[in-house]
Amino acid sequence: MDHDTLRALLEWQIELGADEAIGDAPVDRYALGDSPPARAPAPRPAPPAASAAAPSAPVSEDPVIAARQAAAAAADLAALAEAMAAFPHCELRRGARNCVFADGRAGARVMVIGEAPGRDEDLRGLPFVGRAGQLLDRMFAAIGMGRELPDTGRALYITNILPWRPPENRRPTAAECAMMLPFVERHVELAAPDVLVLMGNTPLQAILGGGGITRRRGIWSRALGLPVLPMFHPAYLLRTPSAKREAWADLLSLQARLRGDG
Ligand code: URA
Repeated sequence: MDHDTLRALLEWQIELGADEAIGDAPVDRYALGDSPPARAPAPRPAPPAASAAAPSAPVSEDPVIAARQAAAAAADLAALAEAMAAFPHCELRRGARNCVFADGRAGARVMVIGEAPGRDEDLRGLPFVGRAGQLLDRMFAAIGMGRELPDTGRALYITNILPWRPPENRRPTAAECAMMLPFVERHVELAAPDVLVLMGNTPLQAILGGGGITRRRGIWSRALGLPVLPMFHPAYLLRTPSAKREAWADLLSLQARLRGDG
């Protein structure tokens, strides 16, 4: 093939979203059949000594029911990470390099829930490690909190609604969120935070439903038995620096709530 033909083929692939090499050798996915490749669970958080695996029970064909069953059967965070990595119904897993489970300290008072991994998160297997994640770290550092801090009162535990990167970082669909929500709910139950922070519209819609983030940010409500604070997503703040003023107000509101005077 000549240079121009090769270039045209490459450009066509990029237009289709195949913009990244994820392996050294080509894989004929039509020859693989329906079973998705096995993926290792995210490296963190460190699992408790023995992970309680799901007892075998009939698995539903309905993705949401199957997710609910798999999530309910996970007795600890390590088992939940395994169950999510093995969950076959979400097509996104086929294009993702890693199942991104969580980062930070399980047991932290604050659990942050974002949308879905982007390119950096997919590569590293950890949530919020790209530019938006770095801003998220700086935002919480401004109120003395961080994912690496040992004290659970100041630590963060961070996850997303979806554990797999959507192609070309598109918005997750409502169906994808509904399918993975039972895992998020179980995740919250097992991590047992005092407060949830929802970063942006996707977790807001998935967990609280109703109006958009611009109207609801900064307004506390309750879901999953916990106080919930919706905030602007840090990726939005990178695009709209003027909205950092509202984000700062929300962080102060979180800080006051944690101190017991909010
Ligand atoms: N945006 C998210 O919502 N989550 C991530 O993990 C990264 C970027």
